[in-house]
Parts: sequence; C-alpha cells; structure tokens
Amino acid sequence: TINIPKLVEFASIGDSSLGFITIAEAHKNVPFEIKRVYWTYFTPHNVIRGGHAHKNLEQIIFAVCGRIEFNIETIDGEKNSFVLDSPDKGLYIPRLVWRDIKFSHNAVLLCLASEVYLEEDYIRHYEDFKILVHEK
Ligand code: TYD
Repeated sequence: TINIPKLVEFASIGDSSLGFITIAEAHKNVPFEIKRVYWTYFTPHNVIRGGHAHKNLEQIIFAVCGRIEFNIETIDGEKNSFVLDSPDKGLYIPRLVWRDIKFSHNAVLLCLASEVYLEEDYIRHYEDFKILVHEK
C-alpha cells in the first residue's frame, strides 16, 4: 500500500551514448501534489542526519548523485533499511516514519515534499515518536 516506505523505480529514458533523463510528476509517479523541493549536499561521510519523523509530510527522496542509506522505523514499530544508489530510484516515505540517514561524501539528496516547511510538523525526539508507536 501507499502507507509503507518503499523503493520506487522511475523510468530512465535515454542510453549511455546520449545520457539519461528521469521524470517525477505529481499524481503520475508521485502520489501527491509537490509543494516543495529541497536538496542537501556536502554532507560528511560520518554524519547521521534525519533523526526525525513528520506528522503529515509525505516525501519521495532521490540520491541524484552518490549513495544514501536510510534506517527507518514505521509507526507500526517495523524497522527497515533502504539504499539509494542510482538516480532513477526513489524512496517513498509516508507520514509518521522515523528516519536516520547516512551519506557518501559525494551524495546529493533531492526531496520532493507534499507540504511547505512547517517546524510544527516535525517529531524531533525519538521518545515522542515511540509514544505514538505504542499508542497505535
Ligand atoms: P532538517 O529537516 O532537520 O534536516 P535533516 O533531516 O537533513 O537533518 O533541516 C535542517 C535545517 O534546515 C533545520 O534548521 C530546518 C531547516 N529547513 C528549512 O528551513 N526549510 C526546509 O524546507 C527544510 C527541509 C529544512
């Protein structure tokens, strides 16, 4: 279903002689209206980012360059890890998923987000997330 994190293969149009293009389109291969796009870069290899969940935000995340590893926990308490290592692979993250993220030194993370930035949408303390997991 749409409520669990999952890797999504995006079409890669082209060939190695001319290069490739990959397209993300709202309500076609992205299951929400895209209200915000952000990207991160120059993340040191030994840093763990993320460390939060979102109350309402849905995302599709790409590693347009490099390798990005996600360790996630769903609101059902299920833990899983995903690796983005190709620009045509996306990770769909529904609401209420805790994520810790590690990057290769050259990684560029591109995020398509269903909402504009709202700090109140963040759950930044793991204990608060675990309370929600246990309530469920
Ligand atoms: P955060 O989402 O905590 O980063 P990460 O999950 O990569 O560790 O965001 C880092 C900082 O950037 C934080 O101070 C909030 C700010 N920020 C915005 O102002 N707008 C945005 O759209 C995003 C994603 C972050």
